[in-house]
Amino acid sequence: MSIIKIFFFLSLSVPIMLYGKEKSLFRAPMDEFIDSLIKEMTLEEKLGQLTQYSGKITDKEKLEEQLELVRKGKVGSFLNIWGVEFIKKFQEVAVEESRIGIPLIFGLDVIHGCKTIFPVPIAWACSFDPDAVKEASRISAIEATAFGINWTFAPMIDIALDPRWGRIVEGAGEDPYLGSVMAKAQVEGYQGEDLKDSTTLLACAKHFVAYGACEGGRDYNSAEVSIRTLYEVYLPPFLYAIKAGVGSIMSAFNDISGIPMSANKELLTNLLREKWNFDGFVVSDWRAIPELLNHGIAESRMEAGIKALYSGVDMDMEGGVFGNELFEAVREGKLSEDVVDKAVRRVLKAKYKLGLFDDPFKYCNLEREKLVPLNKEHIEKARELACKSIVLLKNEGNLLPLRKDIKRIAVIGPLANDASSPLGPWSALGEEKDVVTILEGIKGKVSKGTEVFYAPGCEIIGDSESGFEEAISIAKNSDVVILVLGESRDMSGEARSRSEITLPEIQRKLAERIIEIGKRVILVLSNGRPLAISSLSERVPAILETWFLGIQGGNAIADVLFGDYNPGGKLAVSIPRSTGQVPCFYYHKNTGRPASSEIVHSSRYFDLPITPLYPFGHGLSYTSFKYSKLKIKNKKVGIDDSLQISFLLKNTGKLFGSEVIQLYVRDPVASVAQPVKKLKGFKRVYLEAGEEVEIKIKLPVKLLSFYNIDMKKVVEPGVIELMIGSSSEDIRLRDSFTIIGNVREVDETSVYYCDIEVKKNKR
Ligand code: NOJ
Repeated sequence: MSIIKIFFFLSLSVPIMLYGKEKSLFRAPMDEFIDSLIKEMTLEEKLGQLTQYSGKITDKEKLEEQLELVRKGKVGSFLNIWGVEFIKKFQEVAVEESRIGIPLIFGLDVIHGCKTIFPVPIAWACSFDPDAVKEASRISAIEATAFGINWTFAPMIDIALDPRWGRIVEGAGEDPYLGSVMAKAQVEGYQGEDLKDSTTLLACAKHFVAYGACEGGRDYNSAEVSIRTLYEVYLPPFLYAIKAGVGSIMSAFNDISGIPMSANKELLTNLLREKWNFDGFVVSDWRAIPELLNHGIAESRMEAGIKALYSGVDMDMEGGVFGNELFEAVREGKLSEDVVDKAVRRVLKAKYKLGLFDDPFKYCNLEREKLVPLNKEHIEKARELACKSIVLLKNEGNLLPLRKDIKRIAVIGPLANDASSPLGPWSALGEEKDVVTILEGIKGKVSKGTEVFYAPGCEIIGDSESGFEEAISIAKNSDVVILVLGESRDMSGEARSRSEITLPEIQRKLAERIIEIGKRVILVLSNGRPLAISSLSERVPAILETWFLGIQGGNAIADVLFGDYNPGGKLAVSIPRSTGQVPCFYYHKNTGRPASSEIVHSSRYFDLPITPLYPFGHGLSYTSFKYSKLKIKNKKVGIDDSLQISFLLKNTGKLFGSEVIQLYVRDPVASVAQPVKKLKGFKRVYLEAGEEVEIKIKLPVKLLSFYNIDMKKVVEPGVIELMIGSSSEDIRLRDSFTIIGNVREVDETSVYYCDIEVKKNKR
């Protein structure tokens, strides 16, 4: 009997010993412990550790089959099993009934909340508030672990420039720096201070890499990205996640120039492990290993498995190849057992770090499962983050905020009373019954004498105009119309690419009919991707982009509509004018013929303005801000220095509010053409009406490094333009500075942050 087995026998029959002196048996240094464990394992058991299946807990027969696999040591992890009862059952079989007794790890897609559902990631990125995102991730971990889960397939950190791609909803949008900061925040939130703490989750940065660059925005499609773009745009969030200590990474479905990411040794091993020193493990995406046959780089499942393992994938999600075909591969001498051992070691390390060898049942606490999820504090935090995520796109004549005592309000639109869509894609254990719809939020907010009329008008998608008349009649009878339009939750997310990013036609028609009436119309958008709403946006005076805001979305939207919360979110992604304008992002190159409205032979569409409908970083407030007195302390900086910048920010309006200050740079002359702007710092600053503060910024010069012609990460001397503003197009302050010295290579495995401090005036 193996030592570990003996241990678990002891631990179960004599719990005092487990948590007392016997525990020290397993306090052996991790590597030593794992080495001795691997020596005990049969090849089948090793391959079992590299195998993950989706749990079948609702089908009794399949459940028994899966428990039998656990008993035989043929599986190391499950996804999609939750609840203390089931987790405990599986874990008991693993540690008590299998020969080797290694605990299982349980994964779930906890992407933006577990039971308390927060705004979808594209929304929470618009908060530009990494601390709030970290807090939401922390709460998600606290709730998920209460259900027995110890691993989340998050954060999703794919940079996405193409809103046709449905999964743009799962990430932080288009910008590599914002995406990197949000990646770090989530990893820190999920994993907490110590993975051994039973309220923390192992995080999984995904999808490695360039999944968001799928051609045509079609999910699962090939990515054609240059090495430089890969390193400048798609890879940075992964490096930041690794620096934040992420424990696992998921290889993506896509190929890059013909090399599928689940068989890409150069990126999975040479870059991730050797250059970046990533010491966690890599899990494939769902059946991505057998899909290597479809890609056309393997003739058999065995070949696919060998390629994946050799390239650096350690765990096979749902493909069944590692657990089956690799056995023969080793026996036939086609695969060295050493490679298997390496992968097993990485998986066991994760289990060790989670503390599962100390206590495999540490996540099985029925009391926690009952009390922790959806508690008052979590719900409040969900509302707070939802408020922070809302972006006020337009507010002509200060139509918003509305008074609470308006006599008659018409709430119209198929999403107004929809309890499903606010949950967004990947809603984990979230339930419609816990959702506050927009209609409910509004009804709960207005004064007693206010009448709220509601009509859906039409379905989210469909042809029927039969509901138009009712909608038109309540609109006519009201003082103001709140028109809630957009997408259903299943129009974005995985496998939900759209060829047109417009509003569904029926909703557009409804909007036209309502606008014609001539009442004041506030358009509330609820959607998972930027929507090209050009014609509508010209015809309504006020627009709120609310994405899918989670269970408290309705309350948060009402808070903003009626002025209890002053909106301050900013777009984490540009909104194009039409589908044909895609990709539309702010950090494009200048080109040899820069886009100009006056010059025909310039890089533009002749049938569209050269700007997006709403640019990256855009978002209004009910108050206004003045930027002034920009000073750069050290206008000549060396590569090891930080630029020291200060300026004054004043709330010049009548309401308390927040502004996301954004710092952009441009290197106008470099060895490789640089984007017209790059975000290098941001901070959400809260100010009382009339308050003025000094903003002090330290911008490390190394944050301005880029990949040169030889793909070396360098800082080049020369003049850099500095732009500070309220959006990527609304630049309020400009200056320049000079980097002195020679061209110098920087350590490409280091990450840098712009430090922004707010100096409040002592009154
Ligand atoms: C496929 C998705 O691409 C991935 O993001 C997810 O984590 C897995 N399925 C597991 O649900």
